Amino acid sequence: MPGSSAKDLKTACLVTGCAGFVGSHLTEALLGLGLAVVGVDNFFSGHRRNMAGFEAHPGFSFLEKNILEPEILARAVDIRPGLAHVFHLAAIVSVPYSLAHPDEVMAVNHQASVDLFDQARAMALASFVFAGSAAEYGDCESMPLAESDAGPNTRQTSPYGRAKYLCSRHVEQAGFGSSLRFFNIYGPRQDPGSPYSGVVSRFIDQGLSGRPLTVFGDGGQSRDFLFVRDSVRAYVAAAGLGRVPVLSGVFNVGTGTSTTILGLAEAVRRLTKNRAPLSFLPQREGDVRRSLAEVSRFERAAGFKAQTGLDKGLARTVAWARAQRGSA
Ligand code: UD1
Repeated sequence: MPGSSAKDLKTACLVTGCAGFVGSHLTEALLGLGLAVVGVDNFFSGHRRNMAGFEAHPGFSFLEKNILEPEILARAVDIRPGLAHVFHLAAIVSVPYSLAHPDEVMAVNHQASVDLFDQARAMALASFVFAGSAAEYGDCESMPLAESDAGPNTRQTSPYGRAKYLCSRHVEQAGFGSSLRFFNIYGPRQDPGSPYSGVVSRFIDQGLSGRPLTVFGDGGQSRDFLFVRDSVRAYVAAAGLGRVPVLSGVFNVGTGTSTTILGLAEAVRRLTKNRAPLSFLPQREGDVRRSLAEVSRFERAAGFKAQTGLDKGLARTVAWARAQRGSA
């Protein structure tokens, strides 16, 4: 356990969900910036293998804890007295899982998040960045989705979306910290292993193993796909660790470009040389038809633009998935 040496007082961050797909990339980036990181995860959907690149880093400390435990922030400050930034990513990330387990999802994704935020605010930390979601907009008709399109009367299509919205609103009303409403993040380390996994990871896994890609519904539904590296850049900027001071409020983070699920399937089939016909399955409950980010607020506030287009991001993700198979 660190004592009170000068090194231990260096600026530190808490990353909840550090063993997750996005959290592990963020942790790596923060350590790369010379910051210390206390990571929290309970391996509900994260994996220890995602921490392989930084678990032994001298600036990294790990707490294997459920985010429902009340003392997490206090424990993190004990370990790293220089703790200044919180990145709260730990959540149950699946829309369909939330429909089957609404109480669990409200407890984890809403109540525990609000509690952690209130503690960070009471401690007057430098920043708190919450992982919001495009799911906060429900099945909104008008596209692209602007931040003001989610309000008290918005009906989210799942407890997942509802919980994320309630937290974002809490952050916004407090006037401290930010909620980044991410659209569909994809990239290396996204786990294809469950029926609830993100579509890009599932399609690539199916594509590389020569199986048919499973399309829910007619495939005409569309999403704004953001490469994971861009999501990390967004977190760093919102915490004031990039070129602009710390941000406050709610911001969409996407590319501003929409892709249909059929279009995605074709791109993945091409990259993976998959020749199996698509397999069409019933539409998924809680699915929204369209999702596209209006990105100008975050661009104005942080000078942020997504840098990696879908073609490049997919190619990198396929290359990573191929390498994983080779080393398995
Ligand atoms: C995703 C995220 C959610 C995030 C939201 C923001 C995941 C698991 N969920 O939800 O955390 O807040 O984006 O926009 O990453 N689909 C298929 N075949 C499949 C899998 C999915 O056709 O095998 C379709 C789905 O029906 C859906 C679309 O692909 O229409 C995207 O699904 P998914 O990747 O699960 O993401 P979202 O539900 O949009």
